[in-house]
Amino acid sequence: MESITTFRDWDVDSYEAIQLRYNAALKLITTRIEILNEELQEEHRYNPIEHVKGRIKTPESIVKKLRRHGVESTLDNMIEYCNDIAGIRIICSFTSDIYKIAEMISAQNDITVLSVKDYIVNPKPSGYKSYHMIVTVPVYLSNRCDQVKVEIQIRTVAMDFWASLEHKINYKFEGNAPDRISLELVECSEMVSQLDAKMLDLNNEIQALSEQSGNP
Ligand code: GTP
Ligand code: MG
Repeated sequence: MESITTFRDWDVDSYEAIQLRYNAALKLITTRIEILNEELQEEHRYNPIEHVKGRIKTPESIVKKLRRHGVESTLDNMIEYCNDIAGIRIICSFTSDIYKIAEMISAQNDITVLSVKDYIVNPKPSGYKSYHMIVTVPVYLSNRCDQVKVEIQIRTVAMDFWASLEHKINYKFEGNAPDRISLELVECSEMVSQLDAKMLDLNNEIQALSEQSGNP
């Protein structure tokens, strides 16, 4: 990767310096999500998050993405154009949990939401469903504080199952899966929505019943 010595407000001159910031941001957001989950568990005996996965984008994928954007592979462009160098995926039980978690994250004072894409309300033509947020979180270093971008994807277990299978299929066919398979994936995505809706209804019913009987 080419290197450049001056960048807007970030004082970085190496890929390592960038990676350090994104790694820190990933840790910060992951911890905050864990804290929210622990608090909900403690106060309401309610565990909305199944699991959280974080990853740092590889330099190869960053370069590929910058090429797709038609820009040079410089450190400056990485910071500017690559919103998902730090990525976190939150897997929830129910669709309603997705919006609760998104709201709790957005409500944190030092987190700035740069953009939201709701692929649950507006699924992609592929059938992809998920709730995406690009946020910034302050990373405090020895003599400065940098706002670092993190992509947060929030989805249900069922949506995640669909996305990982679709990803595998597309990888296998290099993005050109046979029409029949693509159509069936869209159908499966509709089944995912039905399943999510049914599970949520059932859960609400169970909760109402246990409140009636006085059991938590
Ligand atoms: P990318 O350049 O792919 O990051 O797209 P983008 O910057 O326009 O953002 P978008 O919200 O479309 O997608 C971001 C991420 O969501 C991707 O990197 C994938 O992880 C996931 N994603 C988006 N579309 C699909 C899809 O059709 N199938 C699967 N499996 N994942 C998807
Ligand atoms: Mg991406």
